[in-house]
Amino acid sequence: MSLLVRNGRVLDPGSGTDAVQDLLLLDGRVARLGTGLTAPDGVEVVDATGRVVCPGFIDLHAHLREPGQEYKETIASGTRAAAAGGYTAVCCMANTQPVNDNRAVTDYILARARAGGVVRVYPIGAVTKNLEGRNLAEMAELAEAGCVAYSDDGRCVTNAQLYRRAMEYALPFGLPVISHAEDPDLAAAGVMHEGLVATELGLAGQPAATEEVMVARDILLAELTGAHLHIAHISTAGSVRLVREARARGVRVTAEATPHHLLLTDEAVRAWDPNTRMAPPLRGKRDVEALREGLADGTIEAVATDHAPHETSEKEGEFALAANGVVGLETAVPLLLDRLVRPGHLDLPTLVARLTTGPAGLLRLPGGSLAPGAPADVTILDLEQPWAVDPTAFQSRSRNTPFAGLGGRGAPVMTIVGGVRVWP
Ligand code: DOR
Repeated sequence: MSLLVRNGRVLDPGSGTDAVQDLLLLDGRVARLGTGLTAPDGVEVVDATGRVVCPGFIDLHAHLREPGQEYKETIASGTRAAAAGGYTAVCCMANTQPVNDNRAVTDYILARARAGGVVRVYPIGAVTKNLEGRNLAEMAELAEAGCVAYSDDGRCVTNAQLYRRAMEYALPFGLPVISHAEDPDLAAAGVMHEGLVATELGLAGQPAATEEVMVARDILLAELTGAHLHIAHISTAGSVRLVREARARGVRVTAEATPHHLLLTDEAVRAWDPNTRMAPPLRGKRDVEALREGLADGTIEAVATDHAPHETSEKEGEFALAANGVVGLETAVPLLLDRLVRPGHLDLPTLVARLTTGPAGLLRLPGGSLAPGAPADVTILDLEQPWAVDPTAFQSRSRNTPFAGLGGRGAPVMTIVGGVRVWP
C-alpha cells in the first residue's frame, strides 16, 4: 500500500498543482508531494518521467450488472475494465436484478466488491421500488447501507409528486437524486434523435424536448424542495441551457455528460450499427457543441461513462430492436484525450477536473485529490501512448462499443488504488 511515484507532471485540480513532482503514497494514503523525495525502505519506485500523475479517476455512472445479469458484466470484470480505463472508483446504478432498492442488495454489491473488485465501488440506490415509479424505495436504509445517491436510471420517475417526496426524503441524508430525464410519452416509439437523419433513415425519432421537459420539471422540483438534483447523461443544448440558468439562480443542480454524447452525433446512426443506440440517443451537432461548452465552463461538472454492457445477441440484428447502451470504461479516457484535448476543444486540467474533483465533490466521495491524507488513488497518463479500440481485448465481459477500430494517442498507463497498483 506504499509507492513512490517519481518525476511525473502532477496534475491535481483540487490544489491547482501542475508541476513536475514526486508523490509518496504510504499505507494507502497520500503522504507527500515534493521534489527529490526518497523512497523509504521497501517502498517500490514508479518512474513517471514524461507522464501525467492525476488523482484517481471516478466514474459516477456505470452499470456493473451484478446481481442478476452476470452474463453481461460482473463486479469483478467491470472493476477490471475500470482499472484498465484509468478509473479508481465506480458508482454502480441500481437497475440490477433484483433492483438495488433495499439494504440486502446494497450489502451484496459491497460484499462482491470486497471479494472480487479491483477498484472502489460505490452503489447508487433506487428511488422507487423495483424501478416501477409507484412507491419509494427503502431510501433511509439504502443511505445507511452505503449508497451514495439515489436513481432509477434507465427509467424516468414520471410521477412528479412521488419525485418531490423522493427529493424531500433524500435531503436529510445529503445524497443527490440522479435523474434519467426522459418523458416516455414524448419518446414514444423513437429509437434515435428526431431530426433529418432519422427522417432520411426512416427511423422513429424522439425530440430533444423528451429530455428537456423532464430536466425543466426536475429543476423546478429541486427548487421547491432544496434537494441536490443531478442530471445523468445530459445530451441536448436545451438541457445545458436549463441547467446553466438554474445554477445561476442558485438551484442545486449538477450534470454529467458521457464520452459518446460528447464525441458522436446522430450522423453515426447512418452506419446502422446497433452500438449507436442508447438512451438518451446521440443528438445533433449543435447539441454536441453545447455539451462541450458546458463541460468547459463547469455547467457540466463530471464526465461519466454510462458504461452499459450488453450481450452481443442483444446488440445485433435490427437497430430498432437493439438494447440501449454502450460500454465505456475502457475507452472513455483515451477517446477524450485524443478527440477533445489533443485538438484543443478542452484543456487537460479541465478534463482531469471533470474526472476527479467534479464527481468526488458532487457525490462527496473521499477521492479526487492528491492532498496529504487523501486516499492513495492515482491515475497515470501517457499523452503520447498510441491506442486502438479492440473490443476482443476488453476486460469487460461485453463488447458493445461504437468506437471499435478507432485509434489515437494518449491513454491511462497505470492505475493505483489505495497505494496498490491494480493496472497493468
Ligand atoms: O443506454 C442506456 N443504457 N441508458 C440508460 O440509461 C440505461 C442503460 C442500461 O442500463 O443499459
